[in-house]
Amino acid sequence: MKILLVAGARPNFMKIAPLVHQLKSLQAGKPTSEKMISYKLIHTGQHYDYEMSKVFFEELDIPEPDYFLGAGSGSHAEQTAKVMVEFEKVCMKEKPDVVVVVGDVNSTLACSVTAKKLNIKVAHVEAGLRSGDMTMPEEINRIVTDSMSDYLFVSEKSGIRNLKKEGKNKKKIFFVGNIMIDTLYYGLKKLTSYQAGKREKQQDIKRASRQADKPASQKYAVVTLHRPSNVDDKDKLSDILSALKEISRDMTIYFPIHPRTEKNIRRFNLRSILKDSNMKTMAPLSYIDFLSLWKDAALVLTDSGGIQEETTVLGIPCFTIRENTERPITIEQGTNTLVGTKGRGILEAYRKFKKGGGKKGRIPKLWDGKTAKRIINILYID
Ligand code: UD1
Repeated sequence: MKILLVAGARPNFMKIAPLVHQLKSLQAGKPTSEKMISYKLIHTGQHYDYEMSKVFFEELDIPEPDYFLGAGSGSHAEQTAKVMVEFEKVCMKEKPDVVVVVGDVNSTLACSVTAKKLNIKVAHVEAGLRSGDMTMPEEINRIVTDSMSDYLFVSEKSGIRNLKKEGKNKKKIFFVGNIMIDTLYYGLKKLTSYQAGKREKQQDIKRASRQADKPASQKYAVVTLHRPSNVDDKDKLSDILSALKEISRDMTIYFPIHPRTEKNIRRFNLRSILKDSNMKTMAPLSYIDFLSLWKDAALVLTDSGGIQEETTVLGIPCFTIRENTERPITIEQGTNTLVGTKGRGILEAYRKFKKGGGKKGRIPKLWDGKTAKRIINILYID
């Protein structure tokens, strides 16, 4: 059996890593008489900066991709089309039995459509998540990918409900747990043996860790922000940054800045809000550097999808700067709170947090570090 594994953008790499590890160990342990399994790794090139791509391969022990499609940036149509054209060539050459796509980025949609039109089976890891917000490009990517997938690998129960509501055949739906958490546990193990990256960054992180021993009100927070709906509009971005500045009066805020956000801060002339505050900005961090920072934070504020899940597992209170989430279990069972996208709402939630000490939660079912194993077993046995 031949599998193509596809990854394109930063949040894909941590979802593909456990699958690669699992496939490798399966290959290593198989006597040649048993069903053979082979795989090739495809990087679409949607993200290409060192900090957005290569460093994740290095840290998460993902081998060099077999194919790099070099899609790069562009409008949604341009980026999606470039991936499709290049990926079609790979599929025709490799003739895989199944293409595995993860998450909800443009590369996910592009490769699932391309494979399906060549009558190749598609497996979608992280299927069934729905925000109900069709202005999010990711929501469109999820719906299209799920509509044609032969294997729908679901991370939380809401995914099963959504897929059934959409009329999907329940034989195609597999509740396997959350693959990001496989990588989180892998990263935590690595962290213990982790050696310094850049000196300055390391010192900042050390300083942050020291602060983490202080009482709640003096601990530090970590922020990530990149969603177009939050950062592409000057007034919205300025409103959010001003609220963060207000919070930074109480505690240091560490803010690794995504390239899109960085560009907009410059374009809109908002640098002064950051300069004149207790916010420490930095280039995007590697997986391990970022983990070492947020795992000891008192509070994480984010508009990312995956961080809502990761903070839930380590019990760190998380404010999601969005109006909705496709990951409702992080609110029902985890430490996540939806605070909206307005400065006022963020500060209101922060006042409650200061009084109450943050939301407690528990780890959702099957977020146990064994998701990749379940997925590969299903693909292999089927
Ligand atoms: C993409 C995903 C989003 C995911 C995010 C994580 C889609 C529709 N969106 O959004 O779901 O949460 O990745 O980062 O697929 N850029 C660089 N260097 C890079 C990559 C991007 O400078 O390595 C800049 C480019 O100017 C680019 C912009 O960032 O135009 C946005 O990149 P893009 O891949 O279009 O979307 P993201 O905002 O990163």
